[in-house]
Amino acid sequence: MATGELRSAARVARPLAAVVLAGGEGKRFRSSTPKVLHALCGRPLIGHMLHALAPLELARTVVVVGRESDRVKEAAKALTKRKLSFALQEEQLGTGDAARVGDDALGRFTGDVLIVPGDSPLLRAETLEGLVSHHRATGAAATVLTAQLTDPTGYGRIVRGAGGAVDRIVEEADTTQEERAIVEVNTSVWVFDRAALRTALTKIDRANAQQEFYLTDVVSVLREKGEPVEAFLAQDATEALGINSRVQLAEVGALLRGRINEGLMLDGVTIIDPASTFVDAGVTVGRDTILQPMTHLHGSTRVGERCEIGPNVRLVDTVVGDEASVINAVAKDAEIGARAQVGPFTYLRPGAVLGEGAKAGTYVEVKKSVIGKGSKVPHLSYIGDAEIGKNVNIGAGTITCNYDGETGVKSKTVIEDDVLIGSDTMLVAPVRVGKGSVTGAGAVVSRDIPPGQVAVGAPARPVRKRKVKPQKKKGGRTK
Ligand code: UD1
Ligand code: CA
Repeated sequence: MATGELRSAARVARPLAAVVLAGGEGKRFRSSTPKVLHALCGRPLIGHMLHALAPLELARTVVVVGRESDRVKEAAKALTKRKLSFALQEEQLGTGDAARVGDDALGRFTGDVLIVPGDSPLLRAETLEGLVSHHRATGAAATVLTAQLTDPTGYGRIVRGAGGAVDRIVEEADTTQEERAIVEVNTSVWVFDRAALRTALTKIDRANAQQEFYLTDVVSVLREKGEPVEAFLAQDATEALGINSRVQLAEVGALLRGRINEGLMLDGVTIIDPASTFVDAGVTVGRDTILQPMTHLHGSTRVGERCEIGPNVRLVDTVVGDEASVINAVAKDAEIGARAQVGPFTYLRPGAVLGEGAKAGTYVEVKKSVIGKGSKVPHLSYIGDAEIGKNVNIGAGTITCNYDGETGVKSKTVIEDDVLIGSDTMLVAPVRVGKGSVTGAGAVVSRDIPPGQVAVGAPARPVRKRKVKPQKKKGGRTK
């Protein structure tokens, strides 16, 4: 039996550990923020890698940190449910040095080690799984994920020997003209037999154009010892794309957006113009919802089924119920109920909650307020710190005066069910308008109004009992 076959036989269900290389300086980014914390489709680069690792069964996951290590640690912890350990690379001496630091942190672990870069956000979990299976099936000492790129500039090139086996990897800076023509590149994603990796890492040096320890040099070290090195070609070459500059951040960002939009469309979402639709990784959109041009869905936003969103909408961490319509609006940390209508030109700030069938219309700003089922704020209003009941109509120009400029205290406005607020009413909080009451145009409500009253003037005072019109048929439209 060849050594490879022996290894392969012993490898069934061997433990797997992962090392994420995230200690680099990211010089080409020219940023005060570490490269791996720059976001793509709402998720830091390192988050995309942790996401790709999520379905894998891993005995340990080590993240190598260097520059601004505390920031990277905190971010990484928040981006995965998996338990992480961190290894500090004191000096950024190259990927070979980073791998050594990561390997040291694995202690007595025996098995295979998956090494991934922190800056390749298009890598898929299935590809990692395929790579690991290939490595185990062949029993290689090392298996590198490669890809064929139409423009391989900047990547390490895979140099294969006469028999087609991988001989060595040469970095762009160290290539000959002939080697530069090679289109098969190193993705920086690897699986190693841990013992083979550990020994090989002690044999690499800095005798190269960048005077760094290259992880790629491990290939020739292993080959010289007669150890088998395998290459596993990625089906989708875009998975190889790393991000070294903000130019690449934008290019890869466009590809990731395209992938997210395609996924949504295949799941039953209509996207009128994918090129102008920006959906973060992790956002969900229900079937038969239509996303119009210039729609931006960010963070933990969830949109229901059969909604119409856009044009010109930006929703951040916002939940939208089924069959809602949102046009020309900005919302953050808001909840839009089923069949509710928002816009055009509406700003929903944190804590804005619209009940089923409610409306926040033109030039309306809502903050930390509940607008009850079927209630409407159709035009030109500010609603802050308010609790509005069911079937309330708020006239144009109404403002909840929630802030006392002298004391700095914010107070609450309560408007009970079936109230009609006349145009241009000022509700001076704290204040309550009782069930079924009406305010006249221009009323300044600074004292509570009991239920069933008509209140007018400044300050508004009840003048008589409200006459109640006979109930309209359900489904009848109110203006
Ligand atoms: C690396 C590969 C190259 C491959 C490319 C794929 C080497 C020598 N080169 O080049 O063959 O085609 O990735 O994208 O391996 N890092 C550290 N500490 C360091 C240096 C880097 O943790 O001292 C981390 C970085 O944070 C990054 C990853 O390692 O996440 C890769 O480093 P980077 O400098 O981006 O390598 P490339 O030049 O892209
Ligand atoms: Ca890179």
